Amino acid sequence: MFINFWYPLGLSTEITGEKPFRAQVFGLPFVAFRDSAGAAHVISDTCVHRGGSLSKGKIKGDRVACPYHGWEFGGDGKCAKVPSLGEDGKIPARAKVDAYPVQERYGILFAFLGDLPEAERPPLYEVPEYGLAGWKSQTYVLNLGAYYQRSMENGMDPIHNEFVHPLQGTPKMSAELQRNQTPMEDIPWGSKFYLPFGEKRADTALAADRQGSRTGAAGSWYQGPNQLVTWIDLTATNAFHQYLFEQPIDENHTRIFFLNLRNWLMEEKHDKRVEELTLQIVNEDMALLENLNPVRTPDTNNKEILLPSDHAVFRYREHCREWESRGWRIDMKALKAKQGDVAFAIPCPARRESGNWVLDSVPLMPGQAAVQAHAKAATGIRSA
Ligand code: FES
Ligand SMILES: [Fe+2]
Repeated sequence: MFINFWYPLGLSTEITGEKPFRAQVFGLPFVAFRDSAGAAHVISDTCVHRGGSLSKGKIKGDRVACPYHGWEFGGDGKCAKVPSLGEDGKIPARAKVDAYPVQERYGILFAFLGDLPEAERPPLYEVPEYGLAGWKSQTYVLNLGAYYQRSMENGMDPIHNEFVHPLQGTPKMSAELQRNQTPMEDIPWGSKFYLPFGEKRADTALAADRQGSRTGAAGSWYQGPNQLVTWIDLTATNAFHQYLFEQPIDENHTRIFFLNLRNWLMEEKHDKRVEELTLQIVNEDMALLENLNPVRTPDTNNKEILLPSDHAVFRYREHCREWESRGWRIDMKALKAKQGDVAFAIPCPARRESGNWVLDSVPLMPGQAAVQAHAKAATGIRSA
């Protein structure tokens, strides 16, 4: 799991000004709430007084109040009121929790879980068709009992469709494409494939509504570790464009915010049928993913057999290693070993500006710079 990317925390409708909303990412708790102007905020859910869960407290004006002793924290993470100190009591300088940049897009609240300054942050995925005339959008929240990277890799796997979704009727890849390395094109923070349809398969229930010949193409791409796109362009005018934003709750659970957009079958009477077919495919994928062994993607590729047609999966894993080399991968083993004794937080951008934080920052795997410094130090010792 990686810091320094945008993660979905909830539907906009789940975040209110009445009650704080608890969201979990990487096994760590966050609280989201709206201030009196309706703006959403995300801060760490751990009260720095004595560990109260802010999400179990109340929203008071622009702040969230801890249920234990009433300390009030604003959207900037700073404690603005300690009731027991009285009106003019001096609030301790360390009374602050991490506060994260947020964006509300596509009816979803996203938080940037990391400490990078704005100019260096990887972007939230831009969905070009969202809200455009001529496109219809359905949003689903999927609760998957599997590791998010397994789900991402499933989306980047063009071969599985034929076996996992036998009734889907998507055109099969040509034998040549199946045998050869999937052609990939790098995009900012990711990689994509987009291929013309090969052999035709049995038509689906939707075939009668399709206009034009089936001359299209389909493809998938990822941006960052948890944003996945699939375009199924059946013809120039009949397309499904799907966007998945994944929230890794912990290593065994993922909440997926799934936008299914289409530019045909626009009348309401088609909604139910499209939904049924979409969810059938989703359920086929989920049943498969919830039974993979091991649960998490192996650390080395030689613990599986990757074929040329798994090249998209291979590229995704290479990118994950690149983000790890930047020092962005959470050391989940170290985190889990200490959780229960230590409350951790994802470092927020303000940690680069000021010190004096009560909660420990999550342990991170050593990045390239740390590995190199370590090697240099070791060489120095040997040559001394
Ligand atoms: S633990 Fe939150 S106010 Fe005491
Ligand atoms: Fe699938």
